[in-house]
Amino acid sequence: MRIVLLGATGFLGHHLLPELSAAGHECIVLSRYPPGCRELTVLPNVEVRRSDIYAAEQLQKHIGGADAVINMVGILNERGRKGEGFNTAHVVLVEKIIEACRACNVRRLLQVSALHAGKGSSYYLISKGKAEERILAAEHLDSTIFQPSVIFGEGDSFFNRFAGLLKVAPFLPLACPDSKLQPVWVGDVVVAMARALADPDTIGQKLIMVGPQEYTLRELVEFTACVCGLRRKIIGLPDSMSRLQGRVMDFVPGKPFSSDNYRSLQTDNTSGENSLWRFGITPRSIEATVPGYLGGAASQRRLDKCRKRADE
Ligand SMILES: NC(=O)c1ccc[n+]([C@@H]2O[C@H](COP(=O)([O-])OP(=O)(O)OC[C@H]3O[C@@H](n4cnc5c(N)ncnc54)[C@H](OP(=O)(O)O)[C@@H]3O)[C@@H](O)[C@H]2O)c1
Repeated sequence: MRIVLLGATGFLGHHLLPELSAAGHECIVLSRYPPGCRELTVLPNVEVRRSDIYAAEQLQKHIGGADAVINMVGILNERGRKGEGFNTAHVVLVEKIIEACRACNVRRLLQVSALHAGKGSSYYLISKGKAEERILAAEHLDSTIFQPSVIFGEGDSFFNRFAGLLKVAPFLPLACPDSKLQPVWVGDVVVAMARALADPDTIGQKLIMVGPQEYTLRELVEFTACVCGLRRKIIGLPDSMSRLQGRVMDFVPGKPFSSDNYRSLQTDNTSGENSLWRFGITPRSIEATVPGYLGGAASQRRLDKCRKRADE
């Protein structure tokens, strides 16, 4: 298949492209800044093209002749605070992709959304939900929507970010410590996506992708500290302080946490349903995977020690 991908230069794309390339697909990656991802161009059948994906004529030029389009563009934070950034990156862009597919007669569209898109009050989840609605309403498309919980794996921004924070701070004030998450391994996500691509039974469906177990955010941060061999005090903040931390961090460059992240964490990121099983995938756990990329060679031994301590 000739596949055009948007947002594939990020974490998920770095895992999906080798999978698609190995399966013999021709992949055209559209990027705002191709020099930032030269390593992708060494993959067989992968071409990275500079493009203003918001410009309709450019989008049509690249999408023309494709068998499928995969959209993975997503942001967790916006520059402003009123949702315009989320709306542009998630909804406006999707409307342009839908129109470009119509103009170029491309039917197959895979959209990477988020677990519980459309629920709660965060601009992130609301805009992801609106994008899903636009796609499912487009009759000229054969679309499949992926709804992953937080995705972990080599190069992730979840465990790696907490590991970075824990390494420099003697203690960590943690917002929303009781929020629940069900991290899913990136390797499972990309295999499911590659299988869904040519599976007509997935057309018109929303596929939930979660890991084998639920954790609180506090448990995940404690696990990270353990894997890194760090003894750190994790101070769970009450709700009012968590909200305040979001408001203050809204003004910190790079927004390590934000009001919108706070609102997203009010909706538990877990599910009793898991579409990985329909593809014959047994979801992999964080315990089996994270020590391999986060903690270096000694991390499995440390994890075993932590488990033992927890049992005592
Ligand atoms: N990672 C997770 O835990 C997770 C969980 C649930 C859902 N998701 C969803 O999965 C998708 C991929 O996630 P990811 O972790 O791979 O994200 P990522 O590493 O941040 O990469 C996203 C890519 O989108 C492009 N992009 C970013 N901001 C953009 C903007 N304002 N306009 C246009 N393009 C922009 C960038 O490509 P260029 O700079 O090359 O243009 C970037 O490489 C996203 O839709 C995300 O919402 C991720």
